[in-house]
Amino acid sequence: MNARIHPSILSADFANLERDLHAIAVADAAHVDVMDNHFVPNLTLGVPVVERLQQVSPIPLDVHLMIEDPDRWAPQYAETGAESVTFHAEAAAAPIRLARELRRLGSRAGLALRPATPIEPFIDLLPEVDMVLIMTVEPGFGGQPFIDAMLAKVRRTRQAISAANLPVWLQVDGGIAPSTIERAALAGADVFVAGSAVFGSPDAALATSELRRMADL
Ligand code: DX5
Ligand code: ZN
Repeated sequence: MNARIHPSILSADFANLERDLHAIAVADAAHVDVMDNHFVPNLTLGVPVVERLQQVSPIPLDVHLMIEDPDRWAPQYAETGAESVTFHAEAAAAPIRLARELRRLGSRAGLALRPATPIEPFIDLLPEVDMVLIMTVEPGFGGQPFIDAMLAKVRRTRQAISAANLPVWLQVDGGIAPSTIERAALAGADVFVAGSAVFGSPDAALATSELRRMADL
């Protein structure tokens, strides 16, 4: 399996994002966490910042929207040229319409699930999306411990993707580190977000390559 590593710039230096994007140029994409202080109790950045990051980044951007009303806001992120735009299933009023709009604008469409949200009600949506993001911590903050109980959801989601023979990527986000990435990969994840494990290490590029080596089964 070809594991993809997407370091989360939530743990980068917000005063040096361009420098830190270059520090992870070996990664497959940079994961950009957008929080609105409503869907989650934290606030990060919005469209104008993502637009600039897109202009200076050596690698594609993977935008994770932890916001209310993604139906209204997500298309603007696709218009920045982001490789993928992921919205939360709990927040979207019309997820199929939104996923189609994101694809029409040229982005991959991602569907994210909080830890307490099961995959089963969304199985029929899988052909409409390019990625499923299973949160392995409660969204909102970096540096939280991995929730082991999410591995079963990763396995069920991988089974559903394989059974339908779909090219859907399966992303895990939260608490991904050398101590957890192998288990997530064995359960069927193929895209790994890591914030503190990459930017908390003295060599972000080396940490990225090490994670990829561990996840490549
Ligand atoms: C959390 C964010 C994650 C976060 C992960 O709500 O969605 O992307 O940056 O951070 P770590 O890897 O430190 O758990
Ligand atoms: Zn994220």
